[in-house]
Amino acid sequence: MGEELTCVIGSNQVKDIGSILKDTGKITAADLEKIVGLQQEKGMLFGEAAVYLGILTEEDVKRALSQQFSYPYLGDEKHPIGSELVSVLQPFSNQIEVFRSLRSKLVLSGIGSVLKAVAIVSPNEGDGKTFIAANLAATFAQLGSKTVLVDANFRKPRIHEIFNLKNNCGMSSVIIKRANLAQAVYCTPIPTLHILPAGPQPPNPLELLGWPDTRDIITSLKGMYDVIIVDTPAFSNTADALVVSNLVDGILMLALKGNTRKEAFDNVKKQLKTSAARILGSIINEPDNKKQPKRFKFF
Ligand SMILES: Nc1ncnc2c1ncn2[C@@H]1O[C@H](COP(=O)(O)OP(=O)(O)OP(=O)(O)O)[C@@H](O)[C@H]1O
Ligand SMILES: [Mg+2]
Repeated sequence: MGEELTCVIGSNQVKDIGSILKDTGKITAADLEKIVGLQQEKGMLFGEAAVYLGILTEEDVKRALSQQFSYPYLGDEKHPIGSELVSVLQPFSNQIEVFRSLRSKLVLSGIGSVLKAVAIVSPNEGDGKTFIAANLAATFAQLGSKTVLVDANFRKPRIHEIFNLKNNCGMSSVIIKRANLAQAVYCTPIPTLHILPAGPQPPNPLELLGWPDTRDIITSLKGMYDVIIVDTPAFSNTADALVVSNLVDGILMLALKGNTRKEAFDNVKKQLKTSAARILGSIINEPDNKKQPKRFKFF
């Protein structure tokens, strides 16, 4: 939650980058002395000075910085997380700032305190719901909130792919009581982030989402986590997302730049206004295929 965020980042326990590098054996005491000397002489940042002297690589510095601020940073190493999780893989990119800013806005709307569960909703397939749900959940978790990412897209589930998990047990299994939550929820390399994949595809997704058991699952998750991010199927294709919207506290609407038509977006908004959840805000997803980083804009 917000207070914990301040605590983690501003904590007295934050070690300086030089100590982290020395403690992990990346640099010797003599290296440290040289780096600090140059740093003071030229007014450089510690990392800059270390790279300038050829003692460390940029990658070493990023890794140490991530430890300093308690961000799980997986770099380019072989890791069990897919490349779409930019908020974890590239914690120093501009994109992470966009997710942090989105998170802050949601915190101000009450997410993590009075409101817990948020669904990501958009009119069409491919708008970026899963991408944003996964990265937003990781951002909440990295900044200290106990977070669970729920895949409520029974038709085209993808959250398990992003986290390289199996999908043979998940939300659908819990709804039909083939498993309990403890069996269906997966851990991730981010200790505060858990995943509830969609599970085996049911023949009747809409019906299943409407069962009281599904609401009970969300209620149970609210008792266990600070934040619940729910991925949904395209709103225009089925009534699934509308049903899910009635199970959560807030909705984040998404439009894909250059793709989402205003009428389609307004239509979704109109229908969502009849649901129990509050529309917390809207974002435009603006992936740019030519340049990194991809960007989001807030309305
Ligand atoms: N901002 C972005 N930056 C980079 N890639 C993106 C971005 N937004 C979406 N993508 C990519 O676009 C593709 C489609 O996105 P995604 O699967 O999240 O859409 P979706 O709305 O969940 O689709 P569906 O309704 O079919 O589930 C994915 O490969 C995703 O990684
Ligand atoms: Mg999706």
